[in-house]
Amino acid sequence: MTIKTKIGMGLAALGRPEYINIRENKNIDKTEKAFRENAFSVLDFAYEKGIRYYDTAPSYGKGERYLMDWNNDRKHSDVILGTKWGYTYVANWELGYYGKHEIKEHSLDKLLEQWEVSQELLPKLNIYQIHSATLETGVLQNDAILNKLYQLKKETGIQIGLTTSGENQNKIILEALNIKINNDYLFDSFQVTYNILEQSTFEVLNILKSKSKFIIIKEALANGRIFNKENKATYSLLENLALKYNVGIDAIVIRFVIDSIEPNYVLSGASNIHQLEENLKALHPDLILLHSEMKQLSLLRTNPVSYWEERNRLTWN
Ligand SMILES: NC(=O)c1ccc[n+]([C@@H]2O[C@H](COP(=O)([O-])OP(=O)(O)OC[C@H]3O[C@@H](n4cnc5c(N)ncnc54)[C@H](OP(=O)(O)O)[C@@H]3O)[C@@H](O)[C@H]2O)c1
Repeated sequence: MTIKTKIGMGLAALGRPEYINIRENKNIDKTEKAFRENAFSVLDFAYEKGIRYYDTAPSYGKGERYLMDWNNDRKHSDVILGTKWGYTYVANWELGYYGKHEIKEHSLDKLLEQWEVSQELLPKLNIYQIHSATLETGVLQNDAILNKLYQLKKETGIQIGLTTSGENQNKIILEALNIKINNDYLFDSFQVTYNILEQSTFEVLNILKSKSKFIIIKEALANGRIFNKENKATYSLLENLALKYNVGIDAIVIRFVIDSIEPNYVLSGASNIHQLEENLKALHPDLILLHSEMKQLSLLRTNPVSYWEERNRLTWN
């Protein structure tokens, strides 16, 4: 069986000392120097293993800077980069930072300010995304922003995309799909949350496919929640499949995403080489989930409202 989906590398966990993870090993070196070294090692390892798409954002602490520096230094001719605009990192590398670590602002000023920096990723920058487009910020109705994105698309040839989170993912995607400027559809690429626990975007993802849109899946591991042993029914099914196929449960759930959606990319959010190596086992030729196993996995879906409530309660650590 040929797997068309590729794994991409997300930098959310690589560029800042605290993120909304279920981190078991909390004793990692959280200095900027250690993070930079780790990020470069993970990026090199990813490249060596054939990963070519790298996804970052200005709000990932130093994540965008690390990707720029790595890209400028390694000069790989075949990488494809994606970044976003709309959130600003404000925790300033402060451990145990109490307030919000990132502030959302979908304004034209923020777009212009962040583009000024992010354009350094050109010509490898291929996908430029609205970071977590929501109905509340009105970003999809803001003509000044949409026109600016269209102008960037025409001037640089980048794909314009958006990322979605929250229980309104379907509505946002459907609204974005219809946006046209000068008779051209504006959005080419959609980065969407889909995983064993949150499958409410299944149908809309199929609509995107039918329209040949570029699909990237994020949060395939539900931010690490799939590792939660307290959720006994889910965990025991995942553990049994992992034992059967001799991989970790992360590979099982990533493969579930690949087989159910066949997106262009699924992002790995690995925070170190070991995790990435484990995530990549999702593509192992011996891992072929049976139809009955896919069916069992699809039954693990939860109610999207509770899924996102739980996601919002995750602490940064
Ligand atoms: N709104 C947006 O646009 C948005 C939101 C979220 C993500 N993203 C993108 O999607 C990428 C992936 O998403 P994500 O990082 O949120 O989600 P994810 O893949 O669901 O979760 C990643 C976390 O799972 C844990 N993990 C991964 N492999 C593991 C393994 N083998 N064993 C144990 N733990 C493992 C790590 O946690 P620890 O670090 O705690 O060990 C890692 O940080 C991000 O890097 C980012 O590029 C975009």
